[in-house]
Amino acid sequence: MTQPTFDATTSAEEVVDGLDLTGKTYLVTGCNSGLGYETARVLGARGARLIGLARTRDKAAQALAKLGVAGDAVACDLGDLDSVRAAVDAVRQLAPLDALIANAGIMALPELQQIQGFEAQFYVNHMGHFVLVTGLLDRLTDAGRVVMLSSGAHRYAKAGLELDNLSGERDYDPWRMYGRSKLANILFARSLAARFGASGRTAVALHPGVIETNLGRHVPNKEAMYERLKHMLKTVGQGAATQVYAAVHPAMAGVTGVYLSDCAVAETLPEGQDDALAAALWERSEAIAAGASA
Ligand SMILES: NC(=O)c1ccc[n+]([C@@H]2O[C@H](COP(=O)([O-])OP(=O)(O)OC[C@H]3O[C@@H](n4cnc5c(N)ncnc54)[C@H](OP(=O)(O)O)[C@@H]3O)[C@@H](O)[C@H]2O)c1
Repeated sequence: MTQPTFDATTSAEEVVDGLDLTGKTYLVTGCNSGLGYETARVLGARGARLIGLARTRDKAAQALAKLGVAGDAVACDLGDLDSVRAAVDAVRQLAPLDALIANAGIMALPELQQIQGFEAQFYVNHMGHFVLVTGLLDRLTDAGRVVMLSSGAHRYAKAGLELDNLSGERDYDPWRMYGRSKLANILFARSLAARFGASGRTAVALHPGVIETNLGRHVPNKEAMYERLKHMLKTVGQGAATQVYAAVHPAMAGVTGVYLSDCAVAETLPEGQDDALAAALWERSEAIAAGASA
């Protein structure tokens, strides 16, 4: 097909214009807010069935009800691996997944917070999704897609993944640790793509743009931050465009192992293309999921 001409101004609604998603099933984490909510709205409006995940089942159910989209609400607290495993079990009872959109996240916690001894952004943004996605790989359809929400802020991971500092205790910095978690999202997608090979299943990571959502809630003086960034702010509709493009657009069929921004392939930090680092992260994540400490 001819490549669509999408760019930074394209909205998620424009991405799905003319597409019939009847019979498709999409899982979205963080379906109750910001980009996840908009993604659920736009896909549901095109006839897709949604599996909406949120910290609590109530939050997910309320979001789907408010949107009036067909779907299932599932509790999944990404900071609690038992909750994630229960979500995996619940999702396994539902229809196979045409795409799994790992969208939920937290950003720039001002003080070090730890979960099970691990820095919280790494744990929620990466580990929670690692356990969720790896638990559902065999529930992807033959052409199923994994879409990892990363960020241009992965560039703040100046010291790379810091696998020797997963506790976050050495020289804690809110943005460097957020950046590290988002670099982990890129490397996880890269590992998945390598594992999928030419199977037809795909995995990509992406930067949605800069959008004023609840994500900024932990940033002191966030109004000043958004004011400073106002020349590049996207609307929520524009912000959800790249993940919707990655998850459902025919032009993305078979496209795997890439990083997207503004509905186009973009460059990551060199560390985002480091296969040895991706393999080390996978191995460490498996160990953490099995109970290893920081
Ligand atoms: N907005 C931006 O400018 C921007 C830029 C680059 C990347 N991103 C990425 O885009 C994604 C979506 O962000 P957004 O802007 O839509 O933010 P948002 O409005 O704050 O939405 C984040 C979602 O993640 C959920 N979440 C947070 N912690 C969770 C946990 N422990 N378990 C389960 N769910 C949890 C939130 O649930 P609650 O409502 O219950 O907290 C919410 O549904 C994130 O991964 C973010 O890193 C956003």
